[in-house]
Formats: sequence, structure tokens, C-alpha cells
Amino acid sequence: MTKRRSSHWYGKLDKDGFIHRSWMKNQGWPDHVFDGRPIIGICNTWSELNPCNHGLRDLAEAVKRGVWEMGAFPVEFPVSSLGETQMKPTAMLFRNLLAMDVEEAIRAHGIDGVVLLGGCDKTTPGQLLGAASVDIPAIVVSSGPMLNGKYRGQDIGSGTDVWKFSEEVRAGKMTLKEFMAAESGMSRSAGVCMTMGTASTMSSLVEALGMCLPTNGALPAVDARRKALAHMTGRRIVEMVEEDLKPSDVLTKAAFENAILANAAVGGSTNAVVHLLALAGRVGVDLTLDDFEIGSEIPLLVNCMPSGQYLMEDFCYAGGIPAVLNELSDHLRKSQTVMGADISAYAEGAEVFSRDVIYAFDEPLKPAAGLRVLKGNLAPDGAIVKPSAATDALLEHEGPAFVFENIEDLKANIDRDDLPVTPETILVLKGCGPKGYPGMAEVGNMPIPAKLIKEGVRDMIRVSDARMSGTAYGTVILHVAPEAQAGGTLALVKTGDRIRVSASNGVLELLVDDAELAMRRAAWQPDPPRYSRGYAKMYVDHVTQANTGADLDFLVGKDTRIPDRESH
Ligand code: FES
Repeated sequence: MTKRRSSHWYGKLDKDGFIHRSWMKNQGWPDHVFDGRPIIGICNTWSELNPCNHGLRDLAEAVKRGVWEMGAFPVEFPVSSLGETQMKPTAMLFRNLLAMDVEEAIRAHGIDGVVLLGGCDKTTPGQLLGAASVDIPAIVVSSGPMLNGKYRGQDIGSGTDVWKFSEEVRAGKMTLKEFMAAESGMSRSAGVCMTMGTASTMSSLVEALGMCLPTNGALPAVDARRKALAHMTGRRIVEMVEEDLKPSDVLTKAAFENAILANAAVGGSTNAVVHLLALAGRVGVDLTLDDFEIGSEIPLLVNCMPSGQYLMEDFCYAGGIPAVLNELSDHLRKSQTVMGADISAYAEGAEVFSRDVIYAFDEPLKPAAGLRVLKGNLAPDGAIVKPSAATDALLEHEGPAFVFENIEDLKANIDRDDLPVTPETILVLKGCGPKGYPGMAEVGNMPIPAKLIKEGVRDMIRVSDARMSGTAYGTVILHVAPEAQAGGTLALVKTGDRIRVSASNGVLELLVDDAELAMRRAAWQPDPPRYSRGYAKMYVDHVTQANTGADLDFLVGKDTRIPDRESH
């Protein structure tokens, strides 16, 4: 048998082994925890500045119970945490920093396997990216969603209802007092956003990828069964170490395809695209934006906000991800999970307990609702749109552009009474991509101009190099690549230009002739850099475009070496 990874730290009977063990013993550990048993890291993104993950301390204790029960030694360690609603300019700027933190923390320490505790939007992908690049046995336990939000006896959903309430206030249909009252009822328990936003999308897709135990995707944060799941995960990671079952054994092309199919069926977040592309890059899987087209024919099965009406708590009680995988069983690819068995084992025998919440594949909530990839001279490397959250009539449209040069321009002018826009106008926002914002902020779902809101308009086409929150909705074309700041055609669009969108044909065209575009390109200059030092400068210098996952170019791939230099 090959020596455990941890033996290079704790198994030596020399000065170095003495130092590694002795300092650990100041926490009160007896000799026998260093007897060669597996050492399991619990990588925790708990933070009081990340409210979505504040239940993770309790879950870490439950994981430890399972690890001890299997005769292994659990050690919990912190990494940086990314609270989506708390960070400026955008948590996405720091996803790759978290990934580096996780990767280097795992690589530097003498652990044999790792349990990843995350939840809020960027924490799940950040942890997966880091762990995949070290490629020791790894498994995920997610925070789980909050209980349904409540306001005046009605269910309200994180994010999705905030956008709605905010538009109602701007339209004069909701008072500020009512708006403020809704805020306390929206977030009334531990957990992540309880709509099918990015956090719940990612925990659901972690299940479809096979990187967690079944039911992890939807169990509410405060449901006692989530603690039991964490306990069982603690048991399973010890077995995975014995089996040497690593992320690269699970994260195959087939697993990514299953995640794409599941994302379509649950009406998942557009953010899943950049996270899955980046993760595939870490494990050497050849996944491209075009691969997401396999989801476009998959119907919407889950009736959850923002694409539907219910919330994650309802989705859990209706059967959760195992029930969705069962509905998709004719389409799922064969793919090994962290259980060692095929993904079909997660779906086996799963029942649907409410057809209002989880629809049958043959009688879906909406047909062919998966993300569509759009290409054309306005997005040579691609853009995406989420039909399940869009207005059908707008998915085939030609109209004049109204351009905002950057987010400040948009904020200053969107509510002008004399803004020259109609419901047919296509709003264009530049400068919000990975390099431009920087960090590719969630501002792509631009507010509808106040003058149109007052006329009752609730959706129009919006095009940008930004992302949008997984809780947002509308006919929003996102992730245009190359972005404006990188010199993409988006940078050349002028107000009044005509744009053609055809989701059915996968087209996003700027109807301006090549000679005119060449003249505009010759006169174009990128904006001066916003950062001259530190991580943000490194990010801007090295971030890749959205169509390859907005990872840092030097982080693509993995490196499984054990550090061979002793520090003492
Ligand atoms: Fe953290 Fe939505 S803001 S999960």
C-alpha cells in the first residue's frame, strides 16, 4: 500500500515529525491520533461576514462525528469566505482568490481527504476549483437554503422578490415602509437564498456532478436531516481516502454533461456556466460553451423562482434533486459519484410528492428551457440567455440599441424621464465583464427605465458582458465574449445601431457593416485600469474571458505534488 499523504507530516520519527506532531498536541490531542489513521480536513467557509454560511459551524461538528466514528482524525480549518450580498465590487472578483486559498491550504497541510463546507454563491465553486487542482479525495456539504421567506402571509423569495418589490416602489405601487417591512421576513433562518439562485443551483449541480451525498442540493439549512447528511459525509470521506477516490475520478465530461442537463431541468442560474467551465479547466475536461447546448432541449421541470413560483423548501419536500435526476434518467450519462457507484443510484426509487413543484419530463412546466448559447459578430466567442426566465416573444427580436458605456452611466441615466427608449429598444451595457468591472458583476439584469415601468413594461432585451444574479429574471443576454474592455465588438456598439436576437437560431448580431466597425475599432481605446496593485491587478492581468470560465490563466489545470521542502 502507498503511504498516506499525512504520513509525510505526522509519520516521521525525526525532528520534523516531532515538530509537526508536538505543535498539534498543544490542542490536547493524544498520541494515538497520529498513529497513521487518515487525517481529514474540514475546509470551512463559515464567517459572520457571510450570513449564508453561518450554519456551517454546526455542520462541521456533525462531519467530525462521522469522521471519528470511522476511526479517522478530523481537523477543521478556515479559508476566506465570500458573502455575495456583502462584498464590493463583486464577490466574483474573489472566487479565484478563494480557489487559490483552498488549493494552497490543502496542499500545504498533511491531510488525506477534505470535506468542503460552502454555500453562498461563490464559495461552492471556489472550493471545488481549489480542491480539484490538488486532487485529493474531496466531498461537499452545502449550507442548504433558508426557510421560505414570509411577508403578509405570503411566501417571498430571496432576490427574485427584491427585484420585484424594487420595481414596484419605482412604479409607485409599493410604499417604502412596506418595502422595509418585507426585508426582515425575507431572510428568517440560517442558509443560502431559498430561490433557485446561484447558491442553490450550485448545491444542486454538485449533486448532479456526484460530488456530494444525495439530497445535499435542497435540504433546508435548519432541517435536522442536513446534520445527519453531514455526519454521513464524514463517514464517507474516510472510505473515499481508503478507496483513493479523487475529484478527477468523478469530474468527467459525463458528469459535467449531467450537471448541464440538471441545470436546465431546475431552471438553474446562468452563473453555473462560468463555474462549470472553470472547474472543467482545472481537471482537464474539454468542456466548451457549445456543450451547454445539450441542455437547450431539456424542459423546465422545477417550478421554483426565478423561473417559477415555489421555493427551495417546497422543492425539497417535493423530492429534491434525486426526483429530478429520476425524471432525467433516460438522458443522464453514466458517471461515477463520490459514492463510487453510478449517478443513477442517486435517482433510484426517488419519488415526486408534488407535481405542482416537480413536473414530469413528458408534461413539463416549459419545453426546451435550458440555457441558449448565442453567437454572431456581437459575441464571436458566445453569450448566453436563460429562456426559462425570459419573455418568449422577446427571444426573437430586432430593435435599436440604447447604450450605457459603463455602470455609472447606467445609474445616472436609467430613470431619466426623457430617456429615448421604447419597449422595443435593446439596452446595452459595456464595461462589466471580467476585466472591465473588474470581476464580471451581477448587473446584467439592468433595471427597466422608470418611464417604461410607469407604462407597465416589465421586461425588455438587455445585452451586456456582465453576469446576473441567479435570482434574477427577464430577457437578459449575458457573458458577451470577448467583453468590451478586451476589445470585443460590444465596445463598438452605438445608440441607434440595430441588433438582432434569435434564441432559436443561437444568433446575436450587430447590424452594422464591417467597414464601419473597422473605423470604430481604429478609434477605440480601453478604459484605463482601475487597479494598479495587489490581487485585483493580478486578476485583471490574468483573468480569462467568460466563455472559458473567467479563471486565472495560470490556475488552469492541476498540480498534485506533495510539498517536498521541509520548513524546519
Ligand atoms: Fe448568499 Fe444568495 S447571497 S446565497
